[in-house]
Amino acid sequence: MKKKRILTGDRPTGKLHLGHYVGTLANRVRLQYEYESFFIIADLHMLTTRNAPEDIAQSAENIRDLVLDSLAAGIDPAVATFYIQSAVPEVCELYTFFQNLVTVPRLERLPSLKEMARDANKEEMPFGLLGYPVLQAADILCVRAHLVPVGKDNIAHVEITREIARRFNNLYGEVFPIPEGLIGEVPTLVGIDGQAKMSKSLGNAIFLSDDAQTVRKKVFSMYTDPARIRADIPGRVEGNPVFIYHDTFNPNKEEVEDLKTRYRQGRVGDWEVKEKLARALNQFLEPIRERRAFYENQPGFIEEIIYKGTLRVREEAKATLQAARKAMGLTRVWDKFKLTSSDQRDSH
Ligand code: TRP
Repeated sequence: MKKKRILTGDRPTGKLHLGHYVGTLANRVRLQYEYESFFIIADLHMLTTRNAPEDIAQSAENIRDLVLDSLAAGIDPAVATFYIQSAVPEVCELYTFFQNLVTVPRLERLPSLKEMARDANKEEMPFGLLGYPVLQAADILCVRAHLVPVGKDNIAHVEITREIARRFNNLYGEVFPIPEGLIGEVPTLVGIDGQAKMSKSLGNAIFLSDDAQTVRKKVFSMYTDPARIRADIPGRVEGNPVFIYHDTFNPNKEEVEDLKTRYRQGRVGDWEVKEKLARALNQFLEPIRERRAFYENQPGFIEEIIYKGTLRVREEAKATLQAARKAMGLTRVWDKFKLTSSDQRDSH
């Protein structure tokens, strides 16, 4: 039986961190042999908030980092398809069709878009940013994906995708599967500063590419229970970032329970809690570092993966667009004028 498909991805705006790992990367790695996986490098989405020539120039390096981070995290290049969104123009054609299957108020209600507009210092909502989830729907449905592993803030966009797919199918006929969203075990990881969300722009992230020394330094700078000014004062474990990370990344559950007990009783110093966390995180990151070094030592490998993946998705997207135009009745109109979707001109 043909495997079902995954589509997910990221904007090429920087390196991946632990929040990405638990939010979506772990799911991507876990499901990569069960599903056929497509990973989009969403540079058109990046343009909705960052479109200066410098941002675009910088995306080349970010694209390499993104793929390298994914392979380091355990994505197998033999089964995964990575591609650059802007190099698959069919996505934009599908996006245009989908714009008529969703309303402006539906999009305006999304908190994620308001947040992105605010973060990008936009006083008014850019047209492109309002369309962000619709473009995302085009990405997902262009390869007719069934499953979309994403971070929590993207789930609402998968919901929009489902609505659009249903409307399309009802109006024109069954072309698209109705995809499911999937969030990770830790939907939102706190930052090392105790802020609600680990994020590159907030400067509170531990990156998959951080070396052991950097990780240690970051862990020792971590926000803990602010009321606990001495080691003999009982501390709060709940909601304490250091313990959230221990729960998430330290496989030694006994050690974690022991630390929690003594922390609550005021019988352990922050130093020990953090030392053990740094060790656990570095143990978690070590295989990731090894895989990164392995792929970094193969010149041209990342470029090749992206090149081949993009060509592959172009073919996929062409077939989907052909099916969409046919269902909509567009090809019947074109036929009357002897037009086809191919670029070549018939030589009469
Ligand atoms: N919106 C995602 C982000 O936050 C990136 C993205 C673009 C995406 N298209 C997608 C994710 C399709 C999943 C599916 O960076």
